[in-house]
Amino acid sequence: MTDNSKESAMKITEAWKLACEVQRRAHAPYSKFYVGAALKIKESEDFILGCNVENASYGATVCAERTAFQVAVAKHGKISPEYLVLVTNSDPAVPPCALCLQIFAEFCDKDFLVYIGNTSGVQKTTKFGDLLKSPFGPSDLK
Ligand code: THU
Repeated sequence: MTDNSKESAMKITEAWKLACEVQRRAHAPYSKFYVGAALKIKESEDFILGCNVENASYGATVCAERTAFQVAVAKHGKISPEYLVLVTNSDPAVPPCALCLQIFAEFCDKDFLVYIGNTSGVQKTTKFGDLLKSPFGPSDLK
């Protein structure tokens, strides 16, 4: 393992720990499906965290990944996302929902990495471009 890959493995572990921490703050009284996300963007060394926030009016629920992206935009304006670590209670771990993938399409290129895991660890690394092959994005409106 090179020094660089050692450092990035440590970063992913750090992000995974933070995703587990924020997952514990999820507001999910209806589904009891608790989700945490840690987003890395080029503009910040700190991970930007999100959890799912459900609502008695179910459709008003916001996913963990979307919360993280919204916080990132609110904090930094223009963002260049590098990767995201997603944690749920599921085993095997699950991918982001289609609504979240659509939000990724707004800000991420196809190489944006999504690390999928649960509270035992990261299980899988996927690229956004493999999760959503033909996204509708900003360039389609030009
Ligand atoms: N959820 C997420 O936070 N992210 C996803 O990608 C999938 C679903 C949340 C929304 C809802 O609070 C619960 O998980 C069950 O769908």
